[in-house]
Amino acid sequence: MDKIRASELFLRPVRIDDAAQFAFLCNDPAIARNTARIPHPYMRADAEKFVARRGAGMFGGDGEFVFAVCRNDEIVACAGATRTSPGVFEIGYWVGADYRGRGVATGAASAVTQFAFVRLSATSVTAGFFADNPTSGRVLERVGFKPTGETILMHSVGRGEEVETVRLSLPRADFRLRPEIVITASES
Ligand SMILES: CC(C)(COP(=O)(O)OP(=O)(O)OC[C@H]1O[C@@H](n2cnc3c(N)ncnc32)[C@H](O)[C@@H]1OP(=O)(O)O)[C@@H](O)C(=O)NCCC(=O)NCCS
Repeated sequence: MDKIRASELFLRPVRIDDAAQFAFLCNDPAIARNTARIPHPYMRADAEKFVARRGAGMFGGDGEFVFAVCRNDEIVACAGATRTSPGVFEIGYWVGADYRGRGVATGAASAVTQFAFVRLSATSVTAGFFADNPTSGRVLERVGFKPTGETILMHSVGRGEEVETVRLSLPRADFRLRPEIVITASES
């Protein structure tokens, strides 16, 4: 089970007992609106299903590596990397409403990107953001992603419609290791 220290952020695999905090943070129309699979309202049962699939020994199952992003021992965000084809990982993230505008997404996205290259031997890391959510596009560009030039339609459960999505990627050759991001492997 890997853990990541990224300046003041600490990322660790999701646990079953995270359900209450995930339910609280994720019940947010802005998160539903700007992600593909998160509904609104987001109920405790949704969070329980989420942690059951990702927590307790499921880390990395099905090629999905999902981290609770903590600051001062409190979960403030979620970020992860999912294998989409051999050597290629897609990252995703959201940040709790009270914690935005302080670099949490930039730090968490940098951390899971470095995790994909260093621990998962990614050849390329990809990401996408809805065209009307440019804040997330700037997060990705700060991490080092570049637009591929491709725009696709992606279904958003939260919106109930297809949304124009800008695609970005970061090939291994362009990845720069950030020394402030430290990844450790541990038994639990
Ligand atoms: C989009 C989202 C992830 C951004 O999260 P965030 O933690 O506020 O992002 P950051 O703080 O890293 O960056 C946001 C702004 O804060 C600024 N900022 C403030 N303090 C900062 C710091 N210490 N370090 C870096 N940036 C900082 C950034 O410069 C950035 O400004 P910009 O919009 O002018 O580029 C968040 O609003 C969110 O979760 N939205 C709903 C779900 C979502 O959109 N998920 C992404 C799907 S692709």
